Amino acid sequence: MASRLAFGVEPFICFSQSKSSRRNGNGYGLRSPTISMASTIGASSSTAKVETPKKPFSPPREVHVQVAHSMPSQKIEIFKSLENWAETNILTHLKPVEKCWQPQDFLPDTSSEGYEVQIKELRERAKELPDEYFVCLVGDMITEEALPTYQTMLNTLDGVRDETGASLTSWAIWTRAWTAEENRHGDLLNRYLYLSGRVDMRQIEKTIQYLIGSGMDPRTENNPYLGFIYTSFQERATFISHGNTARHAKDKGDLKLAQICGIIASDEKRHETAYTKIVEKLFEIDPDDTVLAFADMMRKKISMPAHLMYDGRDDNLFDHFSSVAQRIGVYTAKDYADILEFLVDRWKVGGLSGLSAEGRRAQEYVCTLVPRIRRLEERAQGRAKLRPKVGFSWIFDREVQL
Ligand SMILES: [Fe+2]
Ligand SMILES: [Fe+2]
Repeated sequence: MASRLAFGVEPFICFSQSKSSRRNGNGYGLRSPTISMASTIGASSSTAKVETPKKPFSPPREVHVQVAHSMPSQKIEIFKSLENWAETNILTHLKPVEKCWQPQDFLPDTSSEGYEVQIKELRERAKELPDEYFVCLVGDMITEEALPTYQTMLNTLDGVRDETGASLTSWAIWTRAWTAEENRHGDLLNRYLYLSGRVDMRQIEKTIQYLIGSGMDPRTENNPYLGFIYTSFQERATFISHGNTARHAKDKGDLKLAQICGIIASDEKRHETAYTKIVEKLFEIDPDDTVLAFADMMRKKISMPAHLMYDGRDDNLFDHFSSVAQRIGVYTAKDYADILEFLVDRWKVGGLSGLSAEGRRAQEYVCTLVPRIRRLEERAQGRAKLRPKVGFSWIFDREVQL
Protein backbone atom coordinates (compact mmCIF):
# COMPACT_ATOMS: atom_id res chain seq x y z
CA MET A 1 0.00 0.00 0.00
CA ALA A 2 2.74 2.41 0.93
CA SER A 3 4.42 2.00 -2.41
CA ARG A 4 1.21 2.74 -4.23
CA LEU A 5 0.80 5.78 -2.09
CA ALA A 6 4.08 6.95 -3.50
CA PHE A 7 2.00 7.98 -6.48
CA GLY A 8 -0.35 9.88 -4.25
CA VAL A 9 -3.46 8.28 -5.66
CA GLU A 10 -4.02 5.29 -3.41
CA PRO A 11 -7.32 6.40 -1.94
CA PHE A 12 -8.47 7.10 -5.45
CA ILE A 13 -7.39 3.80 -6.99
CA CYS A 14 -8.97 1.88 -4.26
CA PHE A 15 -9.76 -1.42 -5.89
CA SER A 16 -6.88 -2.91 -4.02
CA GLN A 17 -6.69 -6.35 -5.53
CA SER A 18 -3.95 -7.06 -8.02
CA LYS A 19 -5.04 -5.78 -11.30
CA SER A 20 -2.68 -6.11 -14.14
CA SER A 21 -3.57 -7.88 -17.27
CA ARG A 22 -1.78 -8.31 -20.50
CA ARG A 23 -3.35 -8.60 -23.86
CA ASN A 24 -3.02 -11.69 -25.92
CA GLY A 25 -2.96 -11.71 -29.68
CA ASN A 26 -6.74 -11.69 -29.94
CA GLY A 27 -7.04 -8.36 -28.22
CA TYR A 28 -8.38 -9.99 -25.08
CA GLY A 29 -6.34 -9.51 -21.96
CA LEU A 30 -4.80 -12.19 -19.81
CA ARG A 31 -5.71 -12.04 -16.17
CA SER A 32 -3.08 -12.23 -13.53
CA PRO A 33 -4.87 -12.53 -10.24
CA THR A 34 -1.84 -13.13 -8.05
CA ILE A 35 0.26 -10.16 -9.02
CA SER A 36 1.11 -7.89 -6.15
CA MET A 37 2.67 -4.92 -7.80
CA ALA A 38 4.84 -2.38 -6.15
CA SER A 39 2.94 0.05 -8.26
CA THR A 40 0.26 -0.11 -10.86
CA ILE A 41 1.77 2.66 -12.88
CA GLY A 42 4.70 2.14 -15.14
CA ALA A 43 5.11 -1.47 -14.08
CA SER A 44 7.16 -3.53 -16.43
CA SER A 45 5.36 -6.36 -18.19
CA SER A 46 8.17 -8.70 -17.16
CA THR A 47 6.94 -8.55 -13.58
CA ALA A 48 3.49 -9.77 -14.54
CA LYS A 49 2.70 -13.34 -13.71
CA VAL A 50 0.09 -14.40 -16.17
CA GLU A 51 -2.18 -17.16 -15.02
CA THR A 52 -5.67 -17.45 -16.39
CA PRO A 53 -6.61 -16.32 -19.88
CA LYS A 54 -9.11 -13.48 -19.67
CA LYS A 55 -12.49 -14.42 -21.00
CA PRO A 56 -14.31 -12.18 -23.44
CA PHE A 57 -16.91 -9.96 -21.73
CA SER A 58 -15.44 -10.47 -18.28
CA PRO A 59 -14.03 -7.51 -16.32
CA PRO A 60 -10.48 -6.49 -17.31
CA ARG A 61 -9.27 -7.54 -13.89
CA GLU A 62 -10.56 -9.78 -11.18
CA VAL A 63 -13.07 -8.51 -8.67
CA HIS A 64 -13.25 -9.15 -4.93
CA VAL A 65 -14.82 -12.20 -3.36
CA GLN A 66 -18.48 -11.41 -3.66
CA VAL A 67 -20.47 -11.17 -0.45
CA ALA A 68 -24.24 -11.16 -0.86
CA HIS A 69 -27.18 -10.14 1.34
CA SER A 70 -25.19 -9.16 4.40
CA MET A 71 -28.09 -7.23 5.93
CA PRO A 72 -30.28 -9.48 8.16
CA SER A 73 -33.63 -9.95 6.42
CA GLN A 74 -35.62 -8.52 9.35
CA LYS A 75 -33.97 -5.15 8.72
CA ILE A 76 -35.85 -4.93 5.44
CA GLU A 77 -38.74 -3.79 7.65
CA ILE A 78 -36.80 -0.63 8.49
CA PHE A 79 -36.82 0.40 4.86
CA LYS A 80 -40.49 -0.49 4.45
CA SER A 81 -41.31 1.63 7.48
CA LEU A 82 -39.37 4.54 5.95
CA GLU A 83 -41.54 4.60 2.80
CA ASN A 84 -43.54 7.67 3.82
CA TRP A 85 -40.50 9.36 5.26
CA ALA A 86 -38.68 8.88 1.95
CA GLU A 87 -41.61 10.34 0.05
CA THR A 88 -41.56 13.57 2.02
CA ASN A 89 -37.82 13.82 2.66
CA ILE A 90 -36.09 12.25 -0.32
CA LEU A 91 -38.35 12.51 -3.36
CA THR A 92 -38.50 16.25 -2.69
CA HIS A 93 -34.86 16.44 -3.83
CA LEU A 94 -35.85 15.40 -7.34
CA LYS A 95 -36.67 18.07 -9.86
CA PRO A 96 -39.80 17.82 -12.02
CA VAL A 97 -38.83 17.09 -15.63
CA GLU A 98 -40.40 20.33 -16.82
CA LYS A 99 -38.10 22.29 -14.52
CA CYS A 100 -34.94 20.35 -15.39
CA TRP A 101 -32.22 21.52 -17.73
CA GLN A 102 -31.64 19.34 -20.76
CA PRO A 103 -28.38 18.75 -22.65
CA GLN A 104 -29.78 20.64 -25.62
CA ASP A 105 -29.91 23.83 -23.52
CA PHE A 106 -26.09 23.91 -23.56
CA LEU A 107 -25.31 22.73 -27.07
CA PRO A 108 -25.59 24.14 -30.59
CA ASP A 109 -29.09 23.60 -31.96
CA THR A 110 -28.47 21.71 -35.18
CA SER A 111 -31.98 22.55 -36.42
CA SER A 112 -31.27 26.29 -36.29
CA GLU A 113 -29.83 28.57 -38.95
CA GLY A 114 -26.21 29.28 -38.22
CA TYR A 115 -25.55 26.23 -36.08
CA GLU A 116 -22.30 25.72 -38.02
CA VAL A 117 -21.04 29.00 -36.57
CA GLN A 118 -21.91 27.85 -33.04
CA ILE A 119 -20.06 24.57 -33.59
CA LYS A 120 -17.07 26.41 -35.01
CA GLU A 121 -16.97 28.64 -31.94
CA LEU A 122 -17.25 25.61 -29.65
CA ARG A 123 -14.30 24.01 -31.45
CA GLU A 124 -12.25 27.21 -31.30
CA ARG A 125 -12.77 27.36 -27.55
CA ALA A 126 -11.90 23.66 -27.18
CA LYS A 127 -8.55 24.29 -28.89
CA GLU A 128 -7.47 26.32 -25.87
CA LEU A 129 -7.83 23.36 -23.52
CA PRO A 130 -4.86 21.03 -22.98
CA ASP A 131 -4.88 17.29 -23.68
CA GLU A 132 -4.65 16.50 -19.98
CA TYR A 133 -7.90 18.33 -19.45
CA PHE A 134 -9.59 16.25 -22.14
CA VAL A 135 -8.33 13.02 -20.55
CA CYS A 136 -10.12 14.03 -17.35
CA LEU A 137 -13.27 15.19 -19.09
CA VAL A 138 -13.44 11.98 -21.13
CA GLY A 139 -12.88 9.85 -18.01
CA ASP A 140 -15.66 11.75 -16.24
CA MET A 141 -17.95 11.35 -19.24
CA ILE A 142 -17.27 7.61 -19.48
CA THR A 143 -18.01 7.30 -15.77
CA GLU A 144 -21.36 9.01 -16.33
CA GLU A 145 -22.10 6.88 -19.38
CA ALA A 146 -21.90 3.66 -17.38
CA LEU A 147 -25.21 4.64 -15.78
CA PRO A 148 -26.90 1.28 -16.49
CA THR A 149 -24.40 -0.22 -14.05
CA TYR A 150 -25.33 2.22 -11.29
CA GLN A 151 -29.05 1.69 -11.68
CA THR A 152 -28.36 -2.04 -11.56
CA MET A 153 -26.27 -1.56 -8.43
CA LEU A 154 -29.08 0.35 -6.67
CA ASN A 155 -31.48 -2.40 -7.66
CA THR A 156 -29.30 -5.02 -5.99
CA LEU A 157 -30.04 -3.43 -2.59
CA ASP A 158 -32.39 -5.41 -0.35
CA GLY A 159 -35.47 -3.55 0.86
CA VAL A 160 -35.20 -0.65 -1.57
CA ARG A 161 -34.85 -2.24 -5.01
CA ASP A 162 -37.35 -1.62 -7.79
CA GLU A 163 -39.06 -5.01 -7.72
CA THR A 164 -40.99 -4.68 -10.96
CA GLY A 165 -39.30 -1.99 -13.05
CA ALA A 166 -42.27 0.30 -12.40
CA SER A 167 -42.72 -0.19 -8.66
CA LEU A 168 -44.52 2.61 -6.84
CA THR A 169 -42.48 2.47 -3.64
CA SER A 170 -40.67 5.72 -2.80
CA TRP A 171 -37.34 3.91 -3.05
CA ALA A 172 -38.04 2.66 -6.55
CA ILE A 173 -39.41 6.01 -7.69
CA TRP A 174 -36.26 7.68 -6.40
CA THR A 175 -33.97 5.24 -8.19
CA ARG A 176 -35.70 5.60 -11.54
CA ALA A 177 -35.96 9.39 -11.36
CA TRP A 178 -32.38 9.68 -10.10
CA THR A 179 -31.26 7.59 -13.05
CA ALA A 180 -33.28 9.75 -15.42
CA GLU A 181 -31.65 12.90 -14.03
CA GLU A 182 -28.19 11.36 -14.20
CA ASN A 183 -28.76 10.25 -17.77
CA ARG A 184 -28.49 13.87 -18.90
CA HIS A 185 -24.91 14.10 -17.58
CA GLY A 186 -23.41 11.53 -19.91
CA ASP A 187 -25.52 12.77 -22.81
CA LEU A 188 -24.35 16.36 -22.40
CA LEU A 189 -20.66 15.56 -21.98
CA ASN A 190 -20.75 13.00 -24.78
CA ARG A 191 -22.28 15.44 -27.26
CA TYR A 192 -19.94 18.22 -26.21
CA LEU A 193 -16.90 15.99 -26.68
CA TYR A 194 -18.18 14.76 -30.04
CA LEU A 195 -18.56 18.33 -31.27
CA SER A 196 -15.22 19.45 -29.85
CA GLY A 197 -13.25 17.51 -32.45
CA ARG A 198 -10.52 16.92 -29.90
CA VAL A 199 -11.14 13.27 -29.03
CA ASP A 200 -11.28 9.85 -30.65
CA MET A 201 -14.96 9.10 -30.24
CA ARG A 202 -14.69 5.52 -31.44
CA GLN A 203 -12.13 4.67 -28.76
CA ILE A 204 -14.27 6.42 -26.16
CA GLU A 205 -17.36 4.52 -27.27
CA LYS A 206 -15.44 1.25 -27.05
CA THR A 207 -14.36 2.13 -23.51
CA ILE A 208 -17.98 2.76 -22.54
CA GLN A 209 -19.05 -0.56 -24.02
CA TYR A 210 -16.27 -2.40 -22.21
CA LEU A 211 -17.09 -0.63 -18.96
CA ILE A 212 -20.82 -1.33 -18.98
CA GLY A 213 -20.02 -4.93 -19.89
CA SER A 214 -17.62 -5.17 -16.94
CA GLY A 215 -19.92 -3.65 -14.32
CA MET A 216 -18.47 -2.48 -11.04
CA ASP A 217 -17.36 -3.96 -7.75
CA PRO A 218 -18.48 -1.57 -4.99
CA ARG A 219 -18.71 -4.33 -2.35
CA THR A 220 -22.05 -3.16 -1.07
CA GLU A 221 -23.31 -6.71 -0.54
CA ASN A 222 -26.99 -6.04 -1.44
CA ASN A 223 -26.95 -4.06 1.78
CA PRO A 224 -28.66 -0.64 1.66
CA TYR A 225 -26.64 0.60 4.65
CA LEU A 226 -23.47 0.02 2.64
CA GLY A 227 -25.12 1.06 -0.62
CA PHE A 228 -26.29 4.47 0.59
CA ILE A 229 -22.97 5.22 2.26
CA TYR A 230 -21.33 4.39 -1.05
CA THR A 231 -23.68 6.63 -3.05
CA SER A 232 -23.28 9.47 -0.54
CA PHE A 233 -19.55 9.32 -1.04
CA GLN A 234 -19.80 9.02 -4.80
CA GLU A 235 -22.22 11.87 -5.34
CA ARG A 236 -19.88 14.15 -3.42
CA ALA A 237 -16.89 12.83 -5.37
CA THR A 238 -18.60 13.62 -8.68
CA PHE A 239 -19.73 17.00 -7.37
CA ILE A 240 -16.08 17.78 -6.65
CA SER A 241 -14.66 16.48 -9.92
CA HIS A 242 -17.25 18.17 -12.16
CA GLY A 243 -16.76 21.33 -10.13
CA ASN A 244 -13.05 21.14 -10.80
CA THR A 245 -13.44 20.56 -14.56
CA ALA A 246 -15.74 23.61 -14.54
CA ARG A 247 -13.10 25.67 -12.75
CA HIS A 248 -10.35 24.56 -15.15
CA ALA A 249 -12.52 25.40 -18.19
CA LYS A 250 -13.23 28.85 -16.72
CA ASP A 251 -9.52 29.42 -16.09
CA LYS A 252 -8.86 28.66 -19.76
CA GLY A 253 -11.56 31.08 -20.84
CA ASP A 254 -14.16 28.51 -21.93
CA LEU A 255 -17.15 29.81 -20.04
CA LYS A 256 -19.64 27.65 -21.91
CA LEU A 257 -17.86 24.45 -21.00
CA ALA A 258 -17.52 25.73 -17.44
CA GLN A 259 -21.28 26.15 -17.43
CA ILE A 260 -21.76 22.58 -18.71
CA CYS A 261 -19.57 21.06 -15.99
CA GLY A 262 -21.03 23.38 -13.37
CA ILE A 263 -24.64 22.49 -14.10
CA ILE A 264 -23.78 18.78 -13.80
CA ALA A 265 -21.97 19.45 -10.51
CA SER A 266 -25.09 21.15 -9.15
CA ASP A 267 -27.15 18.00 -9.85
CA GLU A 268 -24.55 15.89 -8.06
CA LYS A 269 -24.78 18.19 -5.06
CA ARG A 270 -28.56 17.76 -4.91
CA HIS A 271 -28.16 13.98 -5.14
CA GLU A 272 -25.52 14.06 -2.42
CA THR A 273 -27.99 15.90 -0.20
CA ALA A 274 -30.60 13.17 -0.70
CA TYR A 275 -28.28 10.21 -0.14
CA THR A 276 -26.60 11.73 2.91
CA LYS A 277 -30.06 12.40 4.33
CA ILE A 278 -30.96 8.70 4.01
CA VAL A 279 -27.81 7.73 5.90
CA GLU A 280 -28.45 10.45 8.48
CA LYS A 281 -31.86 8.83 9.08
CA LEU A 282 -30.23 5.41 9.44
CA PHE A 283 -27.85 6.86 12.00
CA GLU A 284 -30.87 8.20 13.87
CA ILE A 285 -32.82 4.94 14.01
CA ASP A 286 -30.03 2.36 13.96
CA PRO A 287 -26.74 4.03 14.95
CA ASP A 288 -24.88 0.85 15.77
CA ASP A 289 -25.30 -0.91 12.45
CA THR A 290 -24.91 2.32 10.52
CA VAL A 291 -21.55 3.18 12.07
CA LEU A 292 -20.45 -0.43 11.51
CA ALA A 293 -21.46 -0.11 7.87
CA PHE A 294 -19.60 3.20 7.54
CA ALA A 295 -16.43 1.68 9.01
CA ASP A 296 -16.81 -1.38 6.79
CA MET A 297 -17.04 0.70 3.60
CA MET A 298 -14.04 2.80 4.61
CA ARG A 299 -11.95 -0.25 5.48
CA LYS A 300 -12.72 -1.67 2.04
CA LYS A 301 -12.10 1.80 0.56
CA ILE A 302 -14.57 3.42 -1.75
CA SER A 303 -13.85 2.13 -5.22
CA MET A 304 -14.59 4.54 -8.02
CA PRO A 305 -17.53 3.53 -10.19
CA ALA A 306 -15.45 3.32 -13.36
CA HIS A 307 -12.56 1.40 -11.81
CA LEU A 308 -12.97 -1.46 -14.29
CA MET A 309 -12.55 0.74 -17.35
CA TYR A 310 -10.64 -0.58 -20.35
CA ASP A 311 -10.27 0.67 -23.92
CA GLY A 312 -9.04 -2.55 -25.51
CA ARG A 313 -5.44 -1.34 -25.27
CA ASP A 314 -4.34 0.06 -21.95
CA ASP A 315 -4.51 -2.48 -19.14
CA ASN A 316 -4.02 0.25 -16.56
CA LEU A 317 -6.32 2.80 -18.12
CA PHE A 318 -8.17 3.70 -14.92
CA ASP A 319 -4.93 4.17 -12.98
CA HIS A 320 -3.57 6.35 -15.76
CA PHE A 321 -6.72 8.45 -15.91
CA SER A 322 -6.70 8.72 -12.09
CA SER A 323 -3.10 9.87 -12.09
CA VAL A 324 -3.81 12.65 -14.55
CA ALA A 325 -6.89 13.70 -12.55
CA GLN A 326 -4.74 13.72 -9.41
CA ARG A 327 -1.92 15.71 -11.01
CA ILE A 328 -4.05 18.44 -12.52
CA GLY A 329 -6.35 18.59 -9.49
CA VAL A 330 -9.62 17.30 -10.92
CA TYR A 331 -9.94 14.60 -8.26
CA THR A 332 -7.22 13.93 -5.75
CA ALA A 333 -6.27 11.89 -2.71
CA LYS A 334 -6.89 15.03 -0.69
CA ASP A 335 -10.44 15.12 -2.03
CA TYR A 336 -10.95 11.56 -0.79
CA ALA A 337 -9.93 12.60 2.73
CA ASP A 338 -12.02 15.79 2.48
CA ILE A 339 -15.13 13.79 1.51
CA LEU A 340 -14.63 11.43 4.42
CA GLU A 341 -14.19 14.35 6.78
CA PHE A 342 -17.31 15.98 5.39
CA LEU A 343 -19.37 12.80 5.91
CA VAL A 344 -18.07 12.23 9.44
CA ASP A 345 -19.19 15.79 10.30
CA ARG A 346 -22.42 15.58 8.32
CA TRP A 347 -23.49 12.45 10.20
CA LYS A 348 -22.07 13.68 13.53
CA VAL A 349 -20.30 10.36 13.94
CA GLY A 350 -18.06 11.64 16.73
CA GLY A 351 -21.08 12.49 18.87
CA LEU A 352 -22.88 9.14 18.64
CA SER A 353 -23.69 7.66 22.01
CA GLY A 354 -25.17 4.46 23.34
CA LEU A 355 -23.17 2.32 20.92
CA SER A 356 -22.14 -1.28 21.53
CA ALA A 357 -18.47 -2.03 22.11
CA GLU A 358 -18.16 -2.99 18.43
CA GLY A 359 -19.97 0.19 17.43
CA ARG A 360 -17.60 2.30 19.52
CA ARG A 361 -14.62 0.66 17.84
CA ALA A 362 -16.12 1.45 14.43
CA GLN A 363 -16.76 5.03 15.53
CA GLU A 364 -13.18 5.37 16.71
CA TYR A 365 -11.87 3.91 13.44
CA VAL A 366 -13.89 6.25 11.25
CA CYS A 367 -13.19 9.34 13.33
CA THR A 368 -9.43 8.81 13.32
CA LEU A 369 -9.18 7.80 9.68
CA VAL A 370 -9.07 11.30 8.17
CA PRO A 371 -5.82 12.38 9.89
CA ARG A 372 -4.29 8.99 9.08
CA ILE A 373 -5.15 9.32 5.39
CA ARG A 374 -3.83 12.87 5.35
CA ARG A 375 -0.53 11.82 6.92
CA LEU A 376 -0.10 9.03 4.38
CA GLU A 377 -0.91 11.42 1.59
CA GLU A 378 1.62 13.98 2.81
CA ARG A 379 4.30 11.32 2.99
CA ALA A 380 3.37 10.16 -0.51
CA GLN A 381 3.62 13.71 -1.81
CA GLY A 382 7.07 13.96 -0.30
CA ARG A 383 8.17 10.88 -2.20
CA ALA A 384 6.49 11.83 -5.47
CA LYS A 385 8.79 11.37 -8.43
CA LEU A 386 8.59 12.67 -11.94
CA ARG A 387 5.96 10.51 -13.54
CA PRO A 388 6.13 9.09 -17.03
CA LYS A 389 4.09 10.13 -20.03
CA VAL A 390 1.48 7.73 -21.31
CA GLY A 391 -0.51 7.73 -24.56
CA PHE A 392 -4.30 7.78 -24.26
CA SER A 393 -6.31 6.24 -27.08
CA TRP A 394 -9.13 8.70 -26.24
CA ILE A 395 -6.98 11.53 -27.64
CA PHE A 396 -5.48 9.66 -30.60
CA ASP A 397 -2.63 8.21 -28.53
CA ARG A 398 -1.18 11.60 -27.73
CA GLU A 399 0.92 11.38 -24.60
CA VAL A 400 0.07 13.01 -21.30
CA GLN A 401 2.16 13.11 -18.17
CA LEU A 402 0.77 11.04 -15.34
FE1 LIG B 1 -23.66 12.28 -12.73
FE1 LIG C 1 -24.38 11.49 -9.48
